[in-house]
Amino acid sequence: MKKVWWKESVVYQIYPRSFQDSNGDGIGDLPGIIRRLDYLKELGVDVLWISPFYKSPGRDNGYDISDYQAIQAEFGSMEDFDRLLAEAHARGLRVVIDLVVNHTSNQHPWFIESRAHRSSPKRDYYIWRDGQNGGPPNNWGSNFSGSAWTLDEATGQYYLHTFGDFQPDLNWDNPAVREEVFRMMRWWCDKGVDGFRMDVISMISKTPDMPDGELKPGSTYGSFAPYVVNGPHVHQYLQQMNREVLSCYNLLTVGECSGLTVDQACHYANEGGTELSMAFQFEHMDLDGGESFKWNTRKIDIVELKALLTKWQKGLEGRAWNSLYWCNHDQPRIVSRMGDDSTPALREKSAKVLALCLHMMQGTPYVYQGEELGMTNAPFGELSDFRDIESINAYHELTETGVMEPARMLECLRYKSRDNARTPMQWDASPNAGFTEGTPWIMVNPNYTELNAAEQLARPDSVFHFYQELIRLRHTHEIIVYGSYDLLLPDHPQIYAYTRTLGQQKLLCVCNLTGRPAACTLPDGFADAQILACVGPQPHGTAITLGPWEGFALLHL
Ligand code: GLC
Ligand code: CA
Repeated sequence: MKKVWWKESVVYQIYPRSFQDSNGDGIGDLPGIIRRLDYLKELGVDVLWISPFYKSPGRDNGYDISDYQAIQAEFGSMEDFDRLLAEAHARGLRVVIDLVVNHTSNQHPWFIESRAHRSSPKRDYYIWRDGQNGGPPNNWGSNFSGSAWTLDEATGQYYLHTFGDFQPDLNWDNPAVREEVFRMMRWWCDKGVDGFRMDVISMISKTPDMPDGELKPGSTYGSFAPYVVNGPHVHQYLQQMNREVLSCYNLLTVGECSGLTVDQACHYANEGGTELSMAFQFEHMDLDGGESFKWNTRKIDIVELKALLTKWQKGLEGRAWNSLYWCNHDQPRIVSRMGDDSTPALREKSAKVLALCLHMMQGTPYVYQGEELGMTNAPFGELSDFRDIESINAYHELTETGVMEPARMLECLRYKSRDNARTPMQWDASPNAGFTEGTPWIMVNPNYTELNAAEQLARPDSVFHFYQELIRLRHTHEIIVYGSYDLLLPDHPQIYAYTRTLGQQKLLCVCNLTGRPAACTLPDGFADAQILACVGPQPHGTAITLGPWEGFALLHL
């Protein structure tokens, strides 16, 4: 397997709106990030991925961009960005920015021009179709509820938006669109950014005839997925992007690829490097979904999780590169989802063992802000506590069509809403967790008085120091980066155990992912192994019993 820096790196994701406010308006900003670079250096990560800070009406918190080459005033200025880049580079931290080019904001000049009239030179920058039988061109539903089509009264046609009606999809079949995007990417690369996280990049190529999607029982809209996800030209477009932009620089690129399969990943993230460095798959995040999409309070089954992550570990081995994550700005907090946040002690143990289980695998790990502290879901009360467009729209659609009772839907939102990831970073025990001196744009989780970075930095056995140690181990032991992976005990209902192998070296990782004691027998050959990391007491012998949320990693030379 080829050795490259981004395989050996750990990435830290920053959601700028919720990271650090510097001017008291209650919204995190670029100068706020600069203030916290030393903290990130202390954690030991190599790369920062910063979610969008571009000019935007902010209806999807910046994933609706109206100018790709300008900074939204509330986040700061272009000088602030340049300073952030320089300050990060001075500390040896690379900076990856978000590339949101499946769609723009409806306030982007391209769209304003496109919708102006049918013969506008920019008409074909977006996807326009005539309606059918007095309604939209087909039955597709948007990812943010309602139809995926909106009628433009003035020109009498519908435009496609796979997300909100304020996020029209770009037409990637138009070569001019591709050239505009590539030109913009080169502009950021010439500034010195170190890569791109590509928003819903698996959706940029649409099947031209766009037939109705499958209607699931009880749903109003059909699914666009078979005609949009991994569409007919997606690999061709990414290979062109690679030739014309990516290959000219030394970048980390990661595609957000909902609907990704192992075979598809071997194209997107192929070892030959003709497309992207790696991709985010979603299958493990979908294990607790089901009817009504993700709006459930179901728990992830551990045996299923092991089978699934093993499929990815083995399936990509030698062919493509994995990205490893439990959390991002679209997911609830992992310690509340899979661990136990009911007491500080259980919270810390479960946060650590989940981290251990993921960080000893093959792939590039991503840490989402606050995950390194074991930050939890927030105690949201009513609908008015939520800010996220997806959550609010889903609440209305599902309760107004009678699919869900309001109280039940609120319960699902409290568990699964993206806002759980978006409450402010908990820096210290001062008012608003040290995030802002003003009024935060979304509630601060009240547990900040006890759960915060300052407290954890001062305490050697904190979750922070455990993450710091996992990152240090990855930088020290090549086997953690490049070793091959094999699952042990596939049917054990509580324990996730696997080995990594590199030449003569073997690593063993064993994690009890439940709150009950769990017993197992270790494979031979680890009797006098070195303990790399440990949650709970050190293991002795081969017949072992792990307490709730305990685990360890051993290295045998
Ligand atoms: C991606 C982003 C998400 C955003 C959506 C539309 O899934 O991660 O936050 O809402 O794309 O851009
Ligand atoms: Ca601010």
